[in-house]
Amino acid sequence: MQPTKTIWFDGKFVPWDDAKIHVLTHALHYGYSIFEGIRCNDTADGPAIFRLREHVDRLFDGAKVYRMNLPYTKEQLVSACMDLVKENGLQACYVRPIVFSSFGEMGVNPLKNKVIGAVACWEWGAYLGEEGMEKGIRCGVSSWARIDSRILPPQAKCSANYANSILAKTDALAAGYDEAILLTLDGHVAEGSGENIFRVRNGVVYTPTMQSGILGGVTRASVIQIARDNGIEVHERDFTKDELYTADELFFSGTAANITPIREVDGRMIGDGKYPVTKKIQKIYLDAIHGRIDKYKPWLSYVR
Ligand SMILES: Cc1ncc(COP(=O)(O)O)c(C=O)c1O
Repeated sequence: MQPTKTIWFDGKFVPWDDAKIHVLTHALHYGYSIFEGIRCNDTADGPAIFRLREHVDRLFDGAKVYRMNLPYTKEQLVSACMDLVKENGLQACYVRPIVFSSFGEMGVNPLKNKVIGAVACWEWGAYLGEEGMEKGIRCGVSSWARIDSRILPPQAKCSANYANSILAKTDALAAGYDEAILLTLDGHVAEGSGENIFRVRNGVVYTPTMQSGILGGVTRASVIQIARDNGIEVHERDFTKDELYTADELFFSGTAANITPIREVDGRMIGDGKYPVTKKIQKIYLDAIHGRIDKYKPWLSYVR
């Protein structure tokens, strides 16, 4: 990771090296933090943050679920993200807001500790690789089930959820795959360790429902809209592991991963490796985030 000049830390801009926390920070011990992953992309009119408001809304929804009282308004966090990118002079970057319980009291109850927020940004290329976005990646279905809303609400982007993702991701890497696909406890496909998943069969796109142990991805919602706007039929419906294997195309969506085709699952090649529907959606999505499509410009917050 290449350091940038400054990080927004508890309401102030501080030098990158000074954005530090105590080792007894409550969140470090119990996972009581909620974060976002946002991208700022270069456009002909300067850097533009993609669907910033939706990301901030999701962070506030997660905080509500966890009874976390945020000491900031949505507008303050939106401004923090915009100002941060401007302060660091970056054309394109990943933006990471996080809110967490600070130190003071130990023990499971976080509510006595002050909540601190920070926003950092840095340059970060395609999470699953440029080559992956072009040629597709290899996945394995994880033996770990995806967390369930009766255990940890997947809709809240709480750091604790990522213990589940880390187990799946590291097992997938150890087995020689690029990424894991997690199933729900009842055997339906949920998502990747940090991406939503889509299946294409006979030109129709399917993606698991919001109730199936997934994070409601901002990219997922954008993909659904882009597909429908461009005459591609999309259904939110649950599907099983065997339907992964028999897909014509599979792809992941996510802020970090963009749109990445999946070329293999559990040693089975997916379709003929050409991904026409995925590539069509991928192109429109990339054009949208780079400000090349007027219709989708309202999704962009220009950092001028
Ligand atoms: C578990 C999980 N699912 C899906 C996504 C995709 O969400 P988004 O498109 O909002 O980045 C992410 C990324 O944050 C994630 O961590």
